[in-house]
Amino acid sequence: MNFKPEHPIGIFDSGIGGLTVANAIHRFLPEERLIYFGDTAHLPYGDKSADAIRYYSLRISKFLLEQNCKMIVIACNSASSAAYDMLLDFFEGKALFVNVVDPLVNAVISQGYQNVGVIATKATINSSIYRNKIKAGNQKIKVNQLATPLLAPMIEEGFYNGTISKSIIETYLAHDELHGIDALLLACTHYPLIRKEIDDYYGGRVAILDSTDVVRDEVKRILSEEKLLCPARISEDRFFVSDFTSSFEETAKNFYGQDIHLEAKHIWS
Ligand code: DGL
Repeated sequence: MNFKPEHPIGIFDSGIGGLTVANAIHRFLPEERLIYFGDTAHLPYGDKSADAIRYYSLRISKFLLEQNCKMIVIACNSASSAAYDMLLDFFEGKALFVNVVDPLVNAVISQGYQNVGVIATKATINSSIYRNKIKAGNQKIKVNQLATPLLAPMIEEGFYNGTISKSIIETYLAHDELHGIDALLLACTHYPLIRKEIDDYYGGRVAILDSTDVVRDEVKRILSEEKLLCPARISEDRFFVSDFTSSFEETAKNFYGQDIHLEAKHIWS
């Protein structure tokens, strides 16, 4: 690896949900230049096969490496579950990869929760990655998983903090599988946008954990260990999508917390 601190950090997701992670990194490490890729042409990843998600992740990582990214953050649980190991093998020595699963698993284990619920896409739940990794760290922790496939498209369409989202969220959270939990993992990078609604449902009785802060901390830890933290910003962040619509740009603002300009980038031809 021949990277310099001023090289950018690449971040990708199936769509604009990964902007929640990008924004956490941006606010924590404002000197870092980000190159974001949202694969809006193929979202949702949560309903795709692991093979399809691996193929998309490979091609996007290649694009981000062509932009000289020193690190690639897989800001999508579905892609982290299906493709992280393969990307590590395939691009061995070519970039630093960070997934969004391991930091959340480590937080659960170190914070001592005993009965943990996981909500995520079908792809993430079917992989059982959270159950397997949490159990590998501490066999005694009970892990209850529930696929919540309506949530990402609902959020992506801007339906949150309203009656529709309230009713869908309540229907999912009332599921038997989640009874008696002491912590709930929001194992999809779209879900920080409905964190408050989930918190309201539990009235503070259940700890809610998402990937934003833990991933941001992990990015800083690795860059600092590798002496790759950027000392001063040299140019602006860029946000690419594989299929542009003005409604994505509108929703993207809500995910990133400020106005951003999305650029169409066709990497599939
Ligand atoms: N943001 C993606 C994740 O964390 C899910 C959205 C999708 O299904 O594409 O899994």
